[in-house]
Amino acid sequence: MGINIAVAGKGGTGKTTTSALLIRSMIDKKAGKILALDADPNSNLNELLGIKINMTVGQLVEDFKKNGAVISSGIYKDQMVEMNIHQAVAEGKDFDLLAMGRGEGPGCYCAANNLFKKYIDMLQDSYDYIVMDNEAGMEHLSRKTTHNIRYLLLISDPSLRGVQTAARLRDLSKELKINIGKVFLILSRVDNKPDNRLLDFVKEQDFEILGIINSDKNIIDIELSDKSIFELPPESTSLQQVKEIVKKLEI
Ligand SMILES: Nc1ncnc2c1ncn2[C@@H]1O[C@H](COP(=O)(O)OP(=O)(O)O)[C@@H](O)[C@H]1O
Ligand SMILES: [Mg+2]
Repeated sequence: MGINIAVAGKGGTGKTTTSALLIRSMIDKKAGKILALDADPNSNLNELLGIKINMTVGQLVEDFKKNGAVISSGIYKDQMVEMNIHQAVAEGKDFDLLAMGRGEGPGCYCAANNLFKKYIDMLQDSYDYIVMDNEAGMEHLSRKTTHNIRYLLLISDPSLRGVQTAARLRDLSKELKINIGKVFLILSRVDNKPDNRLLDFVKEQDFEILGIINSDKNIIDIELSDKSIFELPPESTSLQQVKEIVKKLEI
C-alpha cells in the first residue's frame, strides 16, 4: 500500500489542523486502523491529537549515535532498529502516531528521514489508513524518501502565494516521480467565500478544489485552550466541511 493521504502546503495554511480534522473524521466514521505520521520536525500534530510522544524517530537516531559501538555491526544495527520501533510508535485510543522529529545536532535530518521511511515500511501493513502531515518545505518528499501516495492534499489559505506554493509542490512531486494517485487543492481558513480573483488563479493553475474549510472560531478556541481535536464540538463548521471532503475520497 503506502500513504493514503499526504497533506502539504505553505506554512501556517492549516496543514496540521486539516490533518487532525481528517483523522477525527475518519475515526468518527470508523474507517479502520489509522497511523498518523508527523513528518514535520517542529512536530505538533500529536498535541492537536491529544497524544504524548515518548520518542521521535530523530531522538532514536541520536540514541543510536551515542551507542556507536553497538551499532557499528550491521546485524546489531538492524536488530536495534526493529526493537526500538515500539518506542517510537505512540498508541492512542483510536489511532497510533509516529513522529519524525529532528536530531539533537544541527544540520542534516537524513538519518532521521531514512529511519522514518524504514519504520513506515515496517508498519504500513498493520494499518488500514496512513495520514501524513508534512512540513512546509516538504523536505520529506523532496528527499525522495516517500512511498506511494494515494491522495496528495495541498492546503492553501485564500491567498495567491498559498496557491502558488501548492502549485510548486505539485510540480516538485512530479519532477521527483513520486507515485501519486491524485492531487487536490483545499482552501483553508477562508472567511465567507473565496474571492473570484483567487478562484480564477486556481483555475489557471489547473487545480481541482476538493473542498473549502472556513475560518472556524471553534478551532481558534481549541488552539487557545490547548484542547485536542476530539474536543471540537461535532457541529463545528470546519469538522463538517472536512467530513464532506472525506466523503469525496475512497476511504
Ligand atoms: N479552519 C481554521 N479556522 C481557524 N483557525 C485555523 C483553521 N485552520 C488552522 N487554523 C489556525 O491557524 C494556525 C496555523 O494552523 P496549522 O494547522 O498549524 O498550519 P500549518 O500546519 O500549515 O503550519 C493555527 O493557529 C491554527 O489553530
Ligand atoms: Mg503544521
